[in-house]
Amino acid sequence: MQRRDFLGFSAGALATAALPSVARANVPSPYDWTAAPPTDKRAAYIDWMVKNRGEDPRYLGERFDRFLALISHHDVWDERNMRAYLMTPREEFVTKANLDRAYLWHYLDIGFGVTITGPHTVARMTNVIDVQRGDKVLEIGTGSGYQSAYLSNLTDKVWSIEIIKPLFERTRGVYDRLIGEGYSEYRAITTKNADGYYGWPEAGPFDKIIVTCGIDHIPPALLQQLRPNGVMVIPIGPPGSQHVLKVTKAQGKDGTISVARSDIYRGAIINFVPFTKLEGGAIRGTHSG
Ligand SMILES: C[S@@+](CC[C@H](N)C(=O)[O-])C[C@H]1O[C@@H](n2cnc3c(N)ncnc32)[C@H](O)[C@@H]1O
Repeated sequence: MQRRDFLGFSAGALATAALPSVARANVPSPYDWTAAPPTDKRAAYIDWMVKNRGEDPRYLGERFDRFLALISHHDVWDERNMRAYLMTPREEFVTKANLDRAYLWHYLDIGFGVTITGPHTVARMTNVIDVQRGDKVLEIGTGSGYQSAYLSNLTDKVWSIEIIKPLFERTRGVYDRLIGEGYSEYRAITTKNADGYYGWPEAGPFDKIIVTCGIDHIPPALLQQLRPNGVMVIPIGPPGSQHVLKVTKAQGKDGTISVARSDIYRGAIINFVPFTKLEGGAIRGTHSG
């Protein structure tokens, strides 16, 4: 579930919410696509991650416990996606005030009236689009940066757009700091501050698109920038009440384009923050009709 008070959209006290500086060693090993932590035992996972990634055993334990819940709820189901989840330090992307809640089920406030999506929703939306290494992936709604960090453990080509300028700048700073600490996989993430409704035409077409804010229709530019046979996942519906749809674009031999949709939650309603609109340099309203 995502939440946001739309009318309170100003850079207030939460906007400057402190980010964590989680005490841990620098990542000791260069990033290795073939390296994968153990998934069968909590202690073995923690040992491997401490040795290979220099992370804090406390958060690693919480990450592993959430991993078991993701599996039991069928929110992650293949090895590459399990690895991506297990390799992504969610504690680096939540605010300091929420460090103790980093691995809880729910979305969390990140300031600016928006949220970091809950780990179950991130995992399911990501696994559904089946990102292959080398795929070009576009994310709409960088937010905390967690989703794109996760994606960078699946492919080395990620683009992400955030509409709130100070949030975009803050998250860019998080990536740059983490890259400096050895998380070289985050070099794969290119970010910009813009209205994601129009996609990123110069970088497209994309094999996969993941939209993390809710809207009542599929933005035409995003569908256009999706490669034939590409897959998009997007929360569609009226404010506060979306269905998360998997949208597959197919192209017939005669060039005709068709679109198939399915609900990744089989009808359950999931609330996302709204897909807002940039007008004359300011955020005004949303792209929903
Ligand atoms: C659920 S939140 C963040 C989720 C994010 N993927 C994460 O892991 O933290 C959705 C984000 O979409 C952003 N957003 C809303 N409308 C947007 C638009 N038109 N273009 C780009 N970003 C937008 C919000 O500012 C917010 O940061």
